[in-house]
Amino acid sequence: MTFTAGFLSRNQVAVTPLAELTTFRLGGPATVVTVDHRDDLVEALDRPHRLLGRGANLLVADAGIGETVVRLGRDFAGLEFLPRIGRTLVRVGAGFDLAALINRCVAAGLAGPEGLAGVPAQVGGALRMNAGTATCWMLDWVARCEIQLPGEGPRWIERAELPARYRHCGLPPGTVFLGAELDLAHGDPERLRQTAARLKKAKAASQPLALASAGCVFKNPRADLPAGKLIDSLGLKGERIGGCAVSPVHANFIVNDQGGTADDVVRLVARIRERAWGERGVELVMEVESWGLGPAASTAAGRSAAMHRSSAEAA
Ligand code: EPU
Repeated sequence: MTFTAGFLSRNQVAVTPLAELTTFRLGGPATVVTVDHRDDLVEALDRPHRLLGRGANLLVADAGIGETVVRLGRDFAGLEFLPRIGRTLVRVGAGFDLAALINRCVAAGLAGPEGLAGVPAQVGGALRMNAGTATCWMLDWVARCEIQLPGEGPRWIERAELPARYRHCGLPPGTVFLGAELDLAHGDPERLRQTAARLKKAKAASQPLALASAGCVFKNPRADLPAGKLIDSLGLKGERIGGCAVSPVHANFIVNDQGGTADDVVRLVARIRERAWGERGVELVMEVESWGLGPAASTAAGRSAAMHRSSAEAA
């Protein structure tokens, strides 16, 4: 299915190796569409597609994918501060960079988002996966989101209507986040800046940030059982297949440090899951999303995700 001439004149369409658009630096080609005009979103989504943000939590098959890859461009990358009494509402587009949003909030003395300092994402991706750290989640400050469910038009949804949980917004696959409003209290910019700097420093000390990766590969199976600690205790740090290895710095990271392939990652993931299940009875579930790969890189919720949910709910 081709695009109309008007669409092609207003938006960017190009076959692109997805390795260039993912932090894992892995993945074959796909037709990538950057939708700059809001009115053209319907046409972009009117064919099998996948939404791409910063590509920071993504593993793409070496053969690439047949679906169109949609990125949200100019009309979805706005940022507005709307002062209210004692607070500020921040309206931000899904295509806005999360780090830039954090910097702008810190500079304006708006508290909350600095807790996500160092998380690589676009706002839309961070909303969809409820990206977070050990202490806070993206959806913590969101008052409402603009979403589009499959087959529907855009609409705003209140935060309270999102059945969000650890690393999930709770909405069905195919939901597109278009933007959000954050309801933020005021704070001292210097203290917010210090908090952001401290969090980034802690991350840099415990995670292999200089190497290509997709961040933490697995969800923590339970609040009291971090996946990294479990994989480390299995002696898997440094385990290598082809050009990819379990990071010696943080065992829940797989790094693509020697020109690896998505297939190397899939095989490492299978090896880690087998050992965790065989030796500890723990089913590790991927946090990283995979495109064009089979069940070996499944993101389907398994027994351990249910366990995590119940422990998070109990907390
Ligand atoms: N640990 C080990 N060995 C390792 C790694 C960790 O023993 O190789 C231990 C640590 O010493 C610590 C515990 O495991 O006692 C937890 O480790 P860490 O503090 O690094 O936190 P995490 O649960 O592994 C979570 C998020 C990270 C986020 C950090 C910091 C998940 C899956 N991961 O990691 O998020 O950056 O907290 O807030 O929830 C990501 O989502 O991609 C990600 C990196």
